[in-house]
Amino acid sequence: MYPHLLFGVFLAHFIFPMEASAHIHRPRVTLTEKDVKFPRVFLKESNTHMKFLQGHNTVYAAGNTQVYQTDFYSPHPQRQSFVFREECIHSTSTDCQYNITVLHKSKNANQLFLCGTNGEHTLCCNVESTDFKCTRSKDFRKIDQHINENEPTLLIDHSEAEEFYATQSGSEITAGIRRFGKNQVWSENSGTEQKYIGLVASGKREESLQDRLYAFYIEKNRDQSGKSDTWFPRVAQICMADRGGPKTVLQFKWTSKLSARLFCGDPERKLYFTDLVEVTTVVADRWQDTRVYTLFKNAWGTRAVCVYSMGDINHVFKTSNFQGITEPIPKPRPGECVADSTLLPTEVLMKVKTNLEMEEWVGNNNRPLWVTHHHYNHIIVDSVQGKGNVLLLSLENGRIHKVLESNGQAFIIAEIQPFNNKASILSMLLNSSTVSQETQPTPTHLQCDSTVAASKKLYVGTSRELVQIDLVSCMQYKDRCEDCVQARDPYCGWDGHQCTTATNNTIQDVDNGNHTICKSNQATSSKVVSSNLVRVPQSSKYFLQCPARSNHAEYNWGHRCNNTGTICTFIESEHQYVLLIEKMETEQEGTYTCVSEEGGYTKTLAMFTVKLDSGATGLASYYTAWFWVVLTLVLVPL
Ligand SMILES: *[C@@H]1O[C@H](CO)[C@@H](O)[C@H](O)[C@H]1NC(C)=O
Ligand SMILES: *[C@@H]1O[C@H](CO)[C@@H](O)[C@H](O)[C@H]1NC(C)=O
Ligand SMILES: *[C@@H]1O[C@H](CO)[C@@H](O)[C@H](O)[C@H]1NC(C)=O
Ligand SMILES: *[C@@H]1O[C@H](CO)[C@@H](O)[C@H](O)[C@H]1NC(C)=O
Ligand SMILES: *[C@@H]1O[C@H](CO)[C@@H](O)[C@H](O)[C@H]1NC(C)=O
Repeated sequence: MYPHLLFGVFLAHFIFPMEASAHIHRPRVTLTEKDVKFPRVFLKESNTHMKFLQGHNTVYAAGNTQVYQTDFYSPHPQRQSFVFREECIHSTSTDCQYNITVLHKSKNANQLFLCGTNGEHTLCCNVESTDFKCTRSKDFRKIDQHINENEPTLLIDHSEAEEFYATQSGSEITAGIRRFGKNQVWSENSGTEQKYIGLVASGKREESLQDRLYAFYIEKNRDQSGKSDTWFPRVAQICMADRGGPKTVLQFKWTSKLSARLFCGDPERKLYFTDLVEVTTVVADRWQDTRVYTLFKNAWGTRAVCVYSMGDINHVFKTSNFQGITEPIPKPRPGECVADSTLLPTEVLMKVKTNLEMEEWVGNNNRPLWVTHHHYNHIIVDSVQGKGNVLLLSLENGRIHKVLESNGQAFIIAEIQPFNNKASILSMLLNSSTVSQETQPTPTHLQCDSTVAASKKLYVGTSRELVQIDLVSCMQYKDRCEDCVQARDPYCGWDGHQCTTATNNTIQDVDNGNHTICKSNQATSSKVVSSNLVRVPQSSKYFLQCPARSNHAEYNWGHRCNNTGTICTFIESEHQYVLLIEKMETEQEGTYTCVSEEGGYTKTLAMFTVKLDSGATGLASYYTAWFWVVLTLVLVPL
């Protein structure tokens, strides 16, 4: 009946035969507009890409040609503007159109930094956040390069001036990493085809001279013979202090660029991932502990999340041998950051010019944090202080998985469905001071959030909508301590009365979701389920529905017949949440209870007293039809 569903199940068993728990790939709960409010803003223009930026109590979103500002109180943006329109007024060309491709926080708190591209060159503006008026950037006057919206960029507030880093994918001579501004530097042509996925600053080191930038990209196989279509993931480093070489060698080119292969896979299971989809970081107090989360996919549509620490990446570039260098490594070691790169010995520069690559791979000993058949396309990670990390992964159909990373394992806390129909999520932003999808190492982004989870919002953008998702929506975990604990949601905890925002004093067991913690804290609440009386006409069909919440629980229906008080039959229900009374007769009378069991915790969810009705028949058949609809709705999302 549901071929795609069956295929998914088949695939899951085929690819993940070793998985201990069958629940690992199934969201525990599903959240729709019925459970939580999703404030949304409608856009007039249809967009194919989107960039988000967090402001103070406001969110900026840049679509194809317009920038929007909203606080989500009204269904329309508070402000919206074609930033680059004025540039075109005096232009005689008919195709004068700038598509917005870059959006960053500016050094000046009241300004945004925006760039647009007309296909040939790039215009950058400092835009007032009050009126969206563009002032042409003095520092980046002439960018004779087409920066496409998919290229990762970084705006770094250096002591004297802002520096703007952008990549260029492709195989042209200009492909690579480029720095614009006072000290322009670009890449030596590598002769290969590259696609850039992420640019990440390593974070403030003890000695600022050693600050580095890492570029994550995939590169077409260097080996031109045979399977030249294969792409391999890589990471490259450059020193931010790099100013290029002297006139003779590598002038205005990186003198500190090294690259290394990135590994994501599980050799034991013969699973290898080479197609890098997205990169995001979780910034830590110590730069070495900052973690880079990567989303990979393979040719079979399987996704994997691999995690690398800045310390590990740094270690490979600092200590590994270089490929193809057998003679002693010159001094200073290639890739070392120096105060004046134009004074580097020619011997070192000549080596760097050959596009040096490390022998060792980054992440060689790491297994993926998670391998799954869910078709994820974007990833954001939130570090919930002292409670664990939460991965937010968008699916190709517009849904979002809230995934707990605990003891190196993934647990899908919830599937969030903010859209009624299939939607394509273009971009996501998390309102958190410790994490951002596009790492912007401005000082404000490096501060740590001291509250656990007072307010955590996720913003998602589709072609026509911006939606706000409250990540701290604990009320849906219902009214028992056990329900709250089994949810394993690090944003939530039991305060003795309700499931609410986690604090130091709330009860929670993120690591195991073990409900016995409630008993030991005397926090069990004995909620009595009241019985619903239903009268069913003779010979008719009837459905009883269990208000099931968790997809990880087992559901059973008990039937106490003849008013004996003991359960005389346990009914094997084909569809767990719904019980079908095939044909109503006197034997079917009695009390029916729906009991769920999850992790050793049993509770009664519903109770129905079913009586034979000798009167009207119309209503029952109405309910039967209605239950068929419900049944279909219940089954489809699984
Ligand atoms: C987002 O978080 C910042 C702190 O990081 C806060 O100042 C701001 O008000 C928040 N914005 C919204 C829209 O919630
Ligand atoms: C701007 O974006 C639109 C829609 O994606 C595209 O059709 C158009 O070619 C782009 N224009 C330029 C100048 O890049
Ligand atoms: C919560 O506990 C942590 C460490 O256990 C402490 O640093 C913090 O101040 C506590 N927060 C509150 C609100 O009590
Ligand atoms: C829950 O914790 C109790 C007490 O620590 C332990 O006996 C029990 O085995 C745990 N249950 C599960 C399912 O881990
Ligand atoms: C309930 O009543 C039916 C007929 O009225 C009888 O066949 C059946 O054995 C009874 N069941 C119990 C458990 O007493």
